[in-house]
Amino acid sequence: MCGIVGYIGSKEAKDILIEGLKRLEYRGYDSAGIAMVIKDLEIKKSVGKIKNLQEKCCNWESKSSTGIAHTRWATHGAPTENNAHPHTSCDGKIALVHNGIIENYSALRSQLIKKGHQFKSETDTEVLVHLIEDYFTGDLKEAVIKALASVEGTYGIAVVSSECPDKIVAARNGSPLVLGVGKGENFIASDVAAILSYTDKVIYLDDKEVAEITINGITTCDIESNPTKKEISKIDWDLEAIEKGGFDHFMLKEIHDQPQALRNGLAGRIDVKTGTIHLGGLNFGVKELKNIDRIVIAACGTSWHAGLLAEFLFENLVAIPTEVEYASEFRYRNPVVNDKTLLIVISQSGETADTLAALREAKGKGAKTLGIINVVGSTIAREVDGGMYIHAGPEIGVASTKAFSAQVSALLMLALHFGRMRNLSIPKTIEISEALLKIPDQIETILKQSEEIKKIALKYAKFRDFLYLGRNISYPVALEGALKLKEISYIHAEGYPSAEMKHGPIALIDPDFPSVFVVPKDSLYEKVLSNMEEIKARSGKMIAVATEGDKEIAKIADDTIYVPKTHDLLTPLLTVIPLQLFSYHVAVARETDVDKPRNLAKSVTVE
Ligand code: M6R
Repeated sequence: MCGIVGYIGSKEAKDILIEGLKRLEYRGYDSAGIAMVIKDLEIKKSVGKIKNLQEKCCNWESKSSTGIAHTRWATHGAPTENNAHPHTSCDGKIALVHNGIIENYSALRSQLIKKGHQFKSETDTEVLVHLIEDYFTGDLKEAVIKALASVEGTYGIAVVSSECPDKIVAARNGSPLVLGVGKGENFIASDVAAILSYTDKVIYLDDKEVAEITINGITTCDIESNPTKKEISKIDWDLEAIEKGGFDHFMLKEIHDQPQALRNGLAGRIDVKTGTIHLGGLNFGVKELKNIDRIVIAACGTSWHAGLLAEFLFENLVAIPTEVEYASEFRYRNPVVNDKTLLIVISQSGETADTLAALREAKGKGAKTLGIINVVGSTIAREVDGGMYIHAGPEIGVASTKAFSAQVSALLMLALHFGRMRNLSIPKTIEISEALLKIPDQIETILKQSEEIKKIALKYAKFRDFLYLGRNISYPVALEGALKLKEISYIHAEGYPSAEMKHGPIALIDPDFPSVFVVPKDSLYEKVLSNMEEIKARSGKMIAVATEGDKEIAKIADDTIYVPKTHDLLTPLLTVIPLQLFSYHVAVARETDVDKPRNLAKSVTVE
């Protein structure tokens, strides 16, 4: 999705802004632009990759130490230079970059055109800069505040004016914005990754807050101009964590990060001797648990798959009715939620618009809310009543990998914790906890098979369709495997519960339609074997992800990838790893843009 970077200080702003935009590339974008406050405003824009913008900026003679920049992911209007941000006022003295969507832009645009404003783009954003121009009488912040009063929708904005060259004004409502605090320089970014190489001290802007940023400091106020007090937070991710670390792609690095990501998330949370789980920040104890009669989980994409797994975990270990909802559907269904409902939202970014809306819908109806979140200080993390950070570290590849396993591990700890507050026995908690603590080492053994998995991937990379099948707790893993393949290799892949296959999808099977079976040696193993026989009888090719030592499976499947033995409830944490590697190697073989697949964005901050 769109990205914002702003700089004011004494260094060459252009270089800092371009570097910042590059660090935001992973979020997905299709055009980019930059505005420098020199004597007048100077703007450069380009379609496509940041390097196109960089080339245009090479010949830029003017130097400036104040500027704003943007990567745009098209919503209103095609990815063209005219539609790229920054947008400028009619007199060219104000420039603005914007993330989010202005819902009433059409009415505002008509009003502004009647007043004589001339529009240069098809975007919803452009109304903002004309509105600010309309209100501007010398005080940029005041004009921004007045303009925002007419706006419905979401925004994270940064605004500069050649009339006030010593400041940048920023504001947010529903679209993340952080302010970086430096020495004799300050920064704005929609994501800390953009500014982390300069400062690890940030101020998180809240919704309906406006900031004025100068070389010497940052002041903030609410949308009615009342000053607000802000704390400076320290980011504990280092730069190395957001770089590739020798791997060809972020996705491959992040797949290999998983053992450490899980260790980080588990650290200090499990006391195996007593079967106790320590979860600070949950704000949800025995009294609150007694008060609820159901759990609803809302999330999107891969996080939704983690939610589907959590349904098994909560029902097995806590025995509380649990439902999993697509966040985007939940919010418009008028869901039956009340103060006896616990809503758990799961989000890597903590900024997904649909998940945030589901959270607000449930909160509005009195539900208690918990978040399973990766990005510290993100909007969802700040709006939930309590929750757990998964501590997976920054996830840059658009295809989520380490966040998924860290989410599942966190949800398992949460289920054990809730289970202990109800009827889960200490021995069973200890048994599962011990198995969970072994998972990072076991993932390491699977990662060593990457080259073997690559050979299998090369055999199958030419196929156009795949069916992913699994049963019970392996069914969400099948869905996740299929999502990974389609996202990054653009191959059609569907996930199904394996027994459901005979009710329809089996009609698709022929020698050109391979299936991937997630078939660990658990209580339903024999039943899944029968499903595999059904595919074999129709000459379907099969890859199996199975448990080490299972000789039977190799007689049926064409190719088998083995994972170590673990507790039945924990198998997804192992079986998902070969599926991630398989998708990765297929995508590389098909020469797709693995880390930034077409049409996708890392953080989906629009509805
Ligand atoms: O940041 P979130 O976890 O809320 O994101 C949810 C989905 O957009 C995300 O999981 C998406 O499906 C990924 N591209 C999956 O790889």
